Amino acid sequence: MKISFMTPSEYNQGAEEAGILVVGVHSTDLDSFQEAIDSVTGGQIQRIMTCPEFKMDKGSMVHIPHPQGLKAQHLIVVAVNTKSKDGKAHLALHWENLGGDILSAFGKSQQKSATVYMPDSVGDMAASVSYGLMLKSWSFDKYHTKKTPNDFCQVKAVHVVTSQKTSVETLFDPLQKVAKGVFLTREVVSEPPNVLFPESMAQKAKELEKIGVKVEVFGEAEMKKLGMHALVGVGLGSAHESKMVVLQWKGGEKDEAPLAFVGKGVTFDTGGISIKPSQDMDEMKYDMAGSGAVLGLMKALAGRKAKVNVVGVLGMTENMPDGKAQRPGDIVTTMSGQTIEILNTDAEGRLVLSDALWYTQDRFKPKTIIDLATLTGAIVVALGSDHAGLFSNDDTLAEQLTKAGLETGEKLWRLPLSEAYDKDIDSVVADVKNIGSGRGAGSITAAQFLQRFVNKTKWAHLDIAGTAWDKKGKKLSQAGATAVGVRLLNEWVKTNYE
Ligand code: BES
Ligand code: MN
Ligand code: ZN
Repeated sequence: MKISFMTPSEYNQGAEEAGILVVGVHSTDLDSFQEAIDSVTGGQIQRIMTCPEFKMDKGSMVHIPHPQGLKAQHLIVVAVNTKSKDGKAHLALHWENLGGDILSAFGKSQQKSATVYMPDSVGDMAASVSYGLMLKSWSFDKYHTKKTPNDFCQVKAVHVVTSQKTSVETLFDPLQKVAKGVFLTREVVSEPPNVLFPESMAQKAKELEKIGVKVEVFGEAEMKKLGMHALVGVGLGSAHESKMVVLQWKGGEKDEAPLAFVGKGVTFDTGGISIKPSQDMDEMKYDMAGSGAVLGLMKALAGRKAKVNVVGVLGMTENMPDGKAQRPGDIVTTMSGQTIEILNTDAEGRLVLSDALWYTQDRFKPKTIIDLATLTGAIVVALGSDHAGLFSNDDTLAEQLTKAGLETGEKLWRLPLSEAYDKDIDSVVADVKNIGSGRGAGSITAAQFLQRFVNKTKWAHLDIAGTAWDKKGKKLSQAGATAVGVRLLNEWVKTNYE
């Protein structure tokens, strides 16, 4: 969807189009633009505002098809609440959500364009509403060959009318770059597992070279040479070669240590020999959402030319049962030198990350490492889909991330790490085993496992198993891939490192 901005006078000078006209109102005093619409429609806006169901503080919306006096085929009047639930806090998110709601109000409209008039008395509102509209507009429809147009919203262009056109354009530019990163994440997470596998993900990553990202791809032979037998072991049953993708964006000082992001990229998780039940197994295509988020984040940061040095590492593999697949009982040696007893081949994400995390801290000596992974079903049980699990060895980092979660709506909830949980993954025959002893706390023991591979580096782990995919859709995303992590970590970088 294309968003462009125009001033009220540009709109009045003949730019008015058929399509949908959205008028935001936030007080009973109409400005001149609203008054003009009100008078040609015979007082439609005033009438709506005086009806008791129209609540200014509740974001009410009224939709009028074929309004009298207008070229537009539809008029939508929106009550714009100028305060968020939390007052002044998280106001940008409040506006973004309003944008998402407006896009939802378009429904399956067959109109090609819409005009959104935002009264601009309140700062960066028009840019944030536009960002929300854009984020919510993305949908994955490329595999419908007989798409009957009626099934999809056809609005392809939105003109946002604001008298602060130039400042809004400046504010919107970086937001749009972040949205492009979000869309890349949603795309790779939505692609089916016969299309998106380690090699094709690596190709997608290579495309970021165009925007100045350095991209390296390691195959199995190179990873074995580095000693990464845990990562390579997960992919032994797959016909696709495992890959590690390393992305670097150098927007900061030359010698400044980077911020590192590491993503679990299991392009399909059958469970391997410890095979999963078939019910809903198709959903395990999104088991690469951590790597997808890291990829989209790199695109967002490079796209908006963030003034930081950043490294993204994607551990890409496919977990399949096969004669060559690894077995429960196998012992593998990691790049760190630590040995792992594999007791359940379905606890494969931590195996992938053990080597990817070690590699990252060893090669780049980053300031911090943040990993994202659809790591455990247990986090879905604990937190559902409203918060991702947060684990960290650093309180400041945990607080910064929690705050970025509230600013972006990609909320996090911190869970503990401790020696007692760590003991639970000691193995009798190796240094560590890949599952706990079955006394609960499955997300925590998984995080404890990862912690053994980060040394003393400041580190946070985000378990996004419950938040990366949403069957119903959220305020800013349609049903399916959410791209959780991209806006969150972009915000974290922006507020703490730029
Ligand atoms: N990919 C799954 C976790 C998952 C579950 C992601 C639901 C998204 C939705 C992970 O690899 C896994 O299978 N974890 C096991 C670990 C167990 C064997 C210790 C789990 O959570 O059941
Ligand atoms: Mn698994
Ligand atoms: Zn998995």
